Amino acid sequence: MYALAKPLLFGLDPETAHALAMASLGAVEHVAPVRALLRALRGAHDPRSKVRAMGLDFPSPVGLAGGFDKNARRPRALAALGFGFLELGTVTALAQEPNPRPNLFRLPADRALVNRLGFPNEGAERVAARFAKARAAVGVPVGFSIGKSRAVALAEDLSPVLADYTRSFEAVAPVSDFVVVNVSSPNTKDLRALQGAALAGALLGELARKNAKKKPLLVKIAPDLDDAEIDAICGVVSEHGLAGVVATNTTIRRDGLSTPRDAVETIGAGGLSGPPLFPRALAVVRRVRAALPKATVIGVGGIERGEHARAMLDAGADLVQIYTAFVYRGPFAARKIATELLQP
Ligand SMILES: Cc1cc2nc3c(=O)[nH]c(=O)nc-3n(C[C@H](O)[C@H](O)[C@H](O)COP(=O)(O)O)c2cc1C
Repeated sequence: MYALAKPLLFGLDPETAHALAMASLGAVEHVAPVRALLRALRGAHDPRSKVRAMGLDFPSPVGLAGGFDKNARRPRALAALGFGFLELGTVTALAQEPNPRPNLFRLPADRALVNRLGFPNEGAERVAARFAKARAAVGVPVGFSIGKSRAVALAEDLSPVLADYTRSFEAVAPVSDFVVVNVSSPNTKDLRALQGAALAGALLGELARKNAKKKPLLVKIAPDLDDAEIDAICGVVSEHGLAGVVATNTTIRRDGLSTPRDAVETIGAGGLSGPPLFPRALAVVRRVRAALPKATVIGVGGIERGEHARAMLDAGADLVQIYTAFVYRGPFAARKIATELLQP
């Protein structure tokens, strides 16, 4: 089926294709028998795929990465497609528009994407309220990713940034199984400075203090950190007793691409995702695991097939996520990867 739909979707600009894919999941989201049919077609999760992490039961280790369903519009449909868990968002306290178009690009020669969307979302409180109504029917663990509102500038006085993240955290935590603090998108000015040990310590310490119900709290990091920076943020994670790390977000690097250099330059700034990211994401996962033997590690970045997921798990990840492979391999990508993972 996707072999037929893909040329049509790829004939559209990527943002329109994403909107169309979301629209076509509408019937799945809102009509329970359609979801039941889809689950029957997809087949049940293999019991051998089960993972327990952060006190939660995951039917499969292959989840949806942050950014695909920013406004929690299709969680039931995405679970029915076979994702073992979902990370919704990134949401911000203040609702915000996308960066000017074009802001999303395909690099088919690399099966990659570049995006500079900049956290378009309807605002944490509104999105959390929408998700609350769907939650009972999702059936897999769901986390929310929280980010910094564009309008809140990073300055010497960090308190506006802390208040901004806290507002999002307090909105999504009651409806989430876990919360991911996103300090690693390249598309929000100064966001990645929050990965430095001092600022990360202030932010993650504040959220850990506000986390009265002890909801598993993770931090998502960039692949562009060097090893010392990875070790430093892992130190902050253990100091504040966070549940774990999501590694990695998209990269600002453009190494090792088959897409011609001038085409890449024409696209311009943004985060690159897909297979070119895989070797670095894998190395970051390995480093994080060495630094945090007991934490939960979610590996993400360029996972396209079972062998990539296997390498991530072997490098120390407990769970994995995909985004770009969902675009290139189609709606059942997560289920296919989970099945491939079981093959010897
Ligand atoms: C279009 C697009 C939007 C994204 N938006 C977010 C986001 O809002 N929050 C986030 O944490 N990561 C976001 N990401 C990054 C993904 O979650 C993931 O870390 C990255 O794409 C690498 O995984 P992949 O190679 O499987 O796509 C986005 C990625 C893409 C392609």
